[in-house]
Amino acid sequence: MKNQSSTKMQNSNVLLTGATGGMGKAFSQQLFDNGANLVLIGRDSHKLNDLKTELLTSNISATNKVEIFAADLVDSEQRQALIEYLATLTFDINLLINNAGINQFSLLEQTSGSEINRIISTNTIAPIQLTQALLPMLLKQDSAQIINIGSTFGSIGFPGYSAYCASKFALRGFSQTLSRELADTNVNVKYLSPRATKTNLISDKIKQLNTALNTTTDLPERVALELLKLIEQNKTERYIGWPEKLFVRINALFPSIVSKSIVKQLPIIQKFACEP
Ligand SMILES: NC(=O)c1ccc[n+]([C@@H]2O[C@H](COP(=O)([O-])OP(=O)(O)OC[C@H]3O[C@@H](n4cnc5c(N)ncnc54)[C@H](OP(=O)(O)O)[C@@H]3O)[C@@H](O)[C@H]2O)c1
Repeated sequence: MKNQSSTKMQNSNVLLTGATGGMGKAFSQQLFDNGANLVLIGRDSHKLNDLKTELLTSNISATNKVEIFAADLVDSEQRQALIEYLATLTFDINLLINNAGINQFSLLEQTSGSEINRIISTNTIAPIQLTQALLPMLLKQDSAQIINIGSTFGSIGFPGYSAYCASKFALRGFSQTLSRELADTNVNVKYLSPRATKTNLISDKIKQLNTALNTTTDLPERVALELLKLIEQNKTERYIGWPEKLFVRINALFPSIVSKSIVKQLPIIQKFACEP
């Protein structure tokens, strides 16, 4: 149990999607410990209840609020119900973190149309539409932020993840565009790009692939510290991990160099993708 909580985010009222996942739990704890009021979103109300209890018992003297709301964000009616619920709270949201996301490791020819649809709807369309719905509230605040959780695969196309990469490239494009579109307002739009991180998003197959490719995997608590730095920083992007950060830059300038190195790994990727 923690004795003291920091109050550096006591004026932050955060809407966090994907709160019940690996990253989401670490983000919730870090934001709660720093004094933010939280509205936590996931699809499963039991998991949300457990998370709320966990946070509140981690510091029983904390005065910040933890609210929960279960919604499938792909569903427009459930998104609308969330917006209506937010209007009943005693505080306005001034920090939206679009974190909910899903992944799928398979070659495109093995991926069904409905899986492609699900990935793009969850990772790209839902956060764009939630952001749009929340924008009037964010624009009314003295100062507000929108943080989109992307991925290294939002900057580097990697075989076996075509739909996921497409969804995260699009989310990065959305972030950059909205950041410029809102440059003369009080709303800052930011993009956090984690590399592989130990959560349930990493299936056993992906774990084995990452081991075979010597991919470093971070703990979600590390990503939560990076999130905090991005919230405090006057920057619009933060990329986590070395050498991933460097590859992102080289890929933007000289994609053929990165292609050569990734294509060398193609037989290993194909082997894992084709295993049952
Ligand atoms: N783990 C990694 O290696 C990694 C690396 C880079 C970026 N990321 C990104 O980090 C973010 C968080 O991922 P994670 O690793 O924490 O994954 P995770 O443990 O699988 O958690 C995913 C979260 O998203 C929620 N979610 C999924 N679909 C939803 C929907 N339709 N409506 C509402 N909520 C939904 C889940 O809710 P339920 O619990 O109700 O299912 C869960 O809370 C994602 O955007 C992911 O792309 C992850």
